[in-house]
Amino acid sequence: MSLMRTKAIDPNAHTGLRRCLTAWDLTLLGIGCVIGTGIFVLTGVAAAEHAGPAIVLSFVLSGLACAFSALCYAELSSAIGGSGSAYGYAYAGIGEFPAWVIGWLLLLEYTVATATVSIGWSGYFAKILSGFFGIELPAEWTSSPSEGGICNVPAIVIVLVLAVLLSWGVKESARFNGVMVVIKLATIAIFIAIAAPHINTDNWTPFIPERVVDANGQSHFGVMGVATAAALIFFAYIGFDAVSTAGEEAINPQRDLPIGILASLAICTLLYIVVSGILTGVVPYTQIDLKAPIAAAMGTLGISWAQGLVATGAIFGITTVMLVLFYGLTRIVLAMSRDGLLPSPMARLHPRTQTPVRLIIGAGVVIALIAGLSPIGKVAELVNLGTLGAFFLVCLSVIVLRRTRPKMARPFRTPWVPLVPILGMGFCGALMASLPGLTWIAFSVWMVIGLLIYFLYSRHRSALATPTA
Ligand code: ALA
Repeated sequence: MSLMRTKAIDPNAHTGLRRCLTAWDLTLLGIGCVIGTGIFVLTGVAAAEHAGPAIVLSFVLSGLACAFSALCYAELSSAIGGSGSAYGYAYAGIGEFPAWVIGWLLLLEYTVATATVSIGWSGYFAKILSGFFGIELPAEWTSSPSEGGICNVPAIVIVLVLAVLLSWGVKESARFNGVMVVIKLATIAIFIAIAAPHINTDNWTPFIPERVVDANGQSHFGVMGVATAAALIFFAYIGFDAVSTAGEEAINPQRDLPIGILASLAICTLLYIVVSGILTGVVPYTQIDLKAPIAAAMGTLGISWAQGLVATGAIFGITTVMLVLFYGLTRIVLAMSRDGLLPSPMARLHPRTQTPVRLIIGAGVVIALIAGLSPIGKVAELVNLGTLGAFFLVCLSVIVLRRTRPKMARPFRTPWVPLVPILGMGFCGALMASLPGLTWIAFSVWMVIGLLIYFLYSRHRSALATPTA
């Protein structure tokens, strides 16, 4: 029975974190976390190798999976709150063990995603230095040992700089995020304004290119290609859920968390569909650049100043993704440590900044080591699998909680329950099934490690196991 013990719910609890974030801050945090390497980098591979112009459909498919999940996140964040996001919702509503599973999935999502994005950031940074300033960073200092380098210094430095910013204060971090998000949105607006008049509708035919099988036996394009691209670019949507980790720092969490989650997802979905449609309209899908597709499209049009501008804007944009993912990670670990499931000294807040400084620095060092020394840039799919798993369980939680706690106050109610959560689970499940077998193996290893930690450590240290502690 102890596996299913639950903890009390108090969405407005004062936990020592500073309640200073408005609905506006939360929406900007969401946009800050969502728009990044997914659109600026991954769209290239997804369109050129899997979906062609139908990448737009892939964005719609992935967007739907996220929309159903976001509606479920909105209900749970308004009713339960807290900084643990889906982990906290499951702990309050379903039980400790399912909560641990979700928490462990979220740790995978946030840690690996932050490291992955910092490697993408480092690549863009090196490209801008060499392309626009003629400064070549030595290859051995911008790649991991397994790629023939020593370590990825820019990736390490940016993670540590963000650790300092997050330690400084959440309002300060949100302000920095806000400025960067404005620059990022301006960059995308410039791309749309410049590229849209150059659309050649011939580039959209065939809309779904015919399926081909390459020399390695891998299939590309066709309807399955659209699904594969959807599972890949799901990464582009990750981050709206990070808004829910600000539950203890929002001034009015019950009203503002659903606003932040749903508004940021709606804005980003719209931008993704427009940008990917324009991209495949101005560059034939076979010629789309695999590393910096949006910036390179400007070059293809011969507008080199815009190419530089978009590349620079992308750097700012990707910085906020790391910032908010890193922020979300620390808040989830904080919630798990406070509950005793992870070592509790990590939960200490700095008296002046009201931030978990020790935890931020510790997490920063771990992420920096992963980013600097491992070839983890190639594992975006692993992040997708972990996140989709968490979204699936969030949708399930809404259904379970409607039955087990029908009277719980729900300032935001997911419409058409159980249809919307079931659709969410269906879409997330289908995207999970489209991911490669190797990703599933890595994922299983991660889950086995998580189960060992739970049964050997967390279960006995849980605050619910030692109520007097
Ligand atoms: N959605 C984030 C990105 O695309 C993780 O970089």
